[in-house]
Amino acid sequence: MKTLTENGLTAAALARLAKAPNPRMKEIMTSLIRHMHGFVRETGLTPAEWKTGIEFLTAVGHITDDKRQEFILLSDTLGVSAMVDLVRHRRLGHGTDSSLLGPFYRNGAPEQPLGASIAGDTPGETLVLRGQVTDAHGRPLADALLDVWQAGPNGKYDIQEEHLTGMNLRGRFRTGADGRYEFRSVKPKSYPVPDDGPVGVLLRAQGRHPYRPAHIHFIVTAEGYEPLITALYIAGDSYIESDAVFGAKQSLTVGYHKSRAANGKSERAPDAIEFDFTLSAAAGQPSSRRPRSVRPARPAAPSRQSPRRRHAV
Ligand SMILES: [Fe+2]
Repeated sequence: MKTLTENGLTAAALARLAKAPNPRMKEIMTSLIRHMHGFVRETGLTPAEWKTGIEFLTAVGHITDDKRQEFILLSDTLGVSAMVDLVRHRRLGHGTDSSLLGPFYRNGAPEQPLGASIAGDTPGETLVLRGQVTDAHGRPLADALLDVWQAGPNGKYDIQEEHLTGMNLRGRFRTGADGRYEFRSVKPKSYPVPDDGPVGVLLRAQGRHPYRPAHIHFIVTAEGYEPLITALYIAGDSYIESDAVFGAKQSLTVGYHKSRAANGKSERAPDAIEFDFTLSAAAGQPSSRRPRSVRPARPAAPSRQSPRRRHAV
């Protein structure tokens, strides 16, 4: 039996994958082992530090249950979730940038007519959101579906409010024949990700804050196009440059504009956000495909998390 060197140990661990039946699994594990072995060598990780890491991951597991997913929060705050999103977007090609789905999406938000409000009787400053959904060539997509959700002016989503049983600050809207959408809400506010668990300890150990800048989530879908999971971030927010989960992007940062009042008196109109969404053609669909006015497909991605999980984004 030969004595393994540092490099020899990595080679031996990789050799154990020789009979892995799934080639993609083999590819991922090969890279993971290489990087983890390299991490230990690069940092000169001590046994005590390794033990601390194991205890940290154990604590992350212990606090995780059907309502709290600390591993996703860990992934989010390390930028891994955002990296996965960036890599996916790179494969899709052109279109509006995507952003993290987050844990607060709830399927089945009420579909409302264009112009309606998702805010109910939520106190706060009224906000109008409007724009157009187009394909990569700028052609309007009629009957595209916008699924929208956001935190309120107190920084909380409806499922974090003890007194709320139904949905609030959520809605779905279909674009008109011109691809345009418009609805009303209230201005969102920045909020902290849960920092009362091991990830919070890690954030503080890194000298980091737990806050996300104010934002409004969207899933935009239309038949023949890739679902777009994204969010609009409010320019000027204190945390726009230091989003705890790395979701905010320049291309998704929007400012408030004075809205047009129905009576023409702009000083009485609420602030507005104007943003156009561009969808990428679905895989196998020609990018020049002419859009049809058909009902969009349901979004497929949001099922990865329980809607009641209250961590992360
Ligand atoms: Fe969010």
